[in-house]
Amino acid sequence: MDAPHVPVMLDEVLDYLAPAASRPGALAVDATLGAGGHTEALLTAHPGLTVIGVDRDPTALELASKRLTDFGDRFIPARAVYDAIPAVLAEHGHERADAVLFDLGVSSMQLDRPERGFAYAQDAPLDMRMNPDDRLTAEIVVNTYEVTELVRILRDYGEEKFAPRVAKAIAAARAKAPITSSRELADLVRDAIPAATRRTGGNPAKRTFQALRIEVNGELDTWRAALPAALDALAPGGRVVVMSYHSLEDRITKQVLAQRAKSATPAGLPVDLPGTEPTFRLLTRKAQQPTKTELDRNPRSAPARLRAAERIAPTGEGGDS
Ligand SMILES: C[S@@+](CC[C@H](N)C(=O)[O-])C[C@H]1O[C@@H](n2cnc3c(N)ncnc32)[C@H](O)[C@@H]1O
Repeated sequence: MDAPHVPVMLDEVLDYLAPAASRPGALAVDATLGAGGHTEALLTAHPGLTVIGVDRDPTALELASKRLTDFGDRFIPARAVYDAIPAVLAEHGHERADAVLFDLGVSSMQLDRPERGFAYAQDAPLDMRMNPDDRLTAEIVVNTYEVTELVRILRDYGEEKFAPRVAKAIAAARAKAPITSSRELADLVRDAIPAATRRTGGNPAKRTFQALRIEVNGELDTWRAALPAALDALAPGGRVVVMSYHSLEDRITKQVLAQRAKSATPAGLPVDLPGTEPTFRLLTRKAQQPTKTELDRNPRSAPARLRAAERIAPTGEGGDS
């Protein structure tokens, strides 16, 4: 396989999911199928496992389905946004999954196709939709959002220190003619950022492009809804693994998992009240990062932060906790 399509933190994903994925007749949901790398490894490692592979991008589903044909009906593709996992499970006659995997963000496949407009290093139309049927594109955001809205997006989703300067530069440029290409936007962002800070920290357009992508695809709102829904859909003893690629996603992941892993009994009571016990146990105390060996092999894995948790099985319901 080409280096850019190597699945991120594959050994760790396989290790964390193994106890759940190896149960007899186990069902896993790969909520972010992409090129199908993690799913292929899971299906190979666990001959009794079935995987429902979810993606909102029809191109990803098509390519991954081709790659996974050898697994027959042990692989089930599903085009959906991942906050609809309970509905996808129901559609296929299941209520619960034993394992759920989220490898968030954009795939190498999407980044490497200039026409999708995700990459600031290539010239392309300002699109950035993961689902080409969605209405909102990066071009619409850049050319129609109020300056104050642009500032908020750039600051909140891109963690861009110079958000007001970049937003003002966008407003000035679009007053002359609509901004339609990724190169034009990348140049404009570079010129808006003070020269002294331009020399460090990689391509200055990176943060603006991340912000636009998150806005176009509603990524954080979807994530806030999707993780709790996926946790509810896990069978007792079932496991979830999440890989995030920026701190905003990871913060949500951390908060949601921590909430489930603590008792809801009011502080000060000596024992947990019935029904308020923790429902998950954390398998990672801190977010885990790719090893040095993986970073050398696949530099794109650098931002990955992995968290894993297991649904606690009430006594007598199976699972290993
Ligand atoms: C980083 S890639 C996954 C790569 C995959 N694990 C592999 O091994 O090839 C993320 C994938 O998730 C999809 N995706 C992102 N947000 C989504 C969402 N809200 N609902 C469904 N799919 C989503 C993207 O279209 C992309 O194909």
